[in-house]
Amino acid sequence: MENINYDFIISEIKEVCKISKDKIDCITNMANISAILNEHLKNINWVGFYIFYNNHLVLGPFQGKVACTNIALDKGVCGKSFFSNKTLNVPNVHAFSDHIACDNNSLSELVIPFHANFIEGVLDIDSFLLNNFSLEDQKNIEEIVKTISSIL
Ligand code: SME
Repeated sequence: MENINYDFIISEIKEVCKISKDKIDCITNMANISAILNEHLKNINWVGFYIFYNNHLVLGPFQGKVACTNIALDKGVCGKSFFSNKTLNVPNVHAFSDHIACDNNSLSELVIPFHANFIEGVLDIDSFLLNNFSLEDQKNIEEIVKTISSIL
C-alpha cells in the first residue's frame, strides 16, 4: 500500500477509543477501530476482528461483506495465525491451503494475532489485490495491533 500515514492512524485510534476497565468497551472500540482502518488502508475489501472464545474464533466487529462466524484453530488463515501466534501475510490466498473464502473478491490477506487485557483474537484484513501488504505495511500494522492490545 502506498502513502499510508500510520502515525495518524495510531493517534486517531488512541483519540477515538475509550479506555476503561469495562468489557463492553472492547466491542465499542473494536467497532471504531475497524471503521478507522477501513477508511485509511488502501485496496481492502474487509477488515475486522475474530475473537477467541470456547476454543474457536468468533466473528467480531468488522467492515465489509457478511463473513463466516466461527473458525476452528486449525482452519483458515485466521485460525492458523492465532494458533501459531504469528502474523500471516498471504500474498495470494488461492495458494494457501485451508484458506476460508468469505468474499470471492479477496486475493491477499494479512492476519495479526493479539492478546489484550480482556480479549484475544486476530485482526484480519483482506485485499482485492494480490500482494497488497508489503513487509513495511505488515510492520506498521503490527505496531497498530500493539496499540490496539494496550487499549482492549
Ligand atoms: N479468509 C479468512 C476467513 C475470514 S474472512 O477473510 C473475513 C481465513 O482464511 O481465515
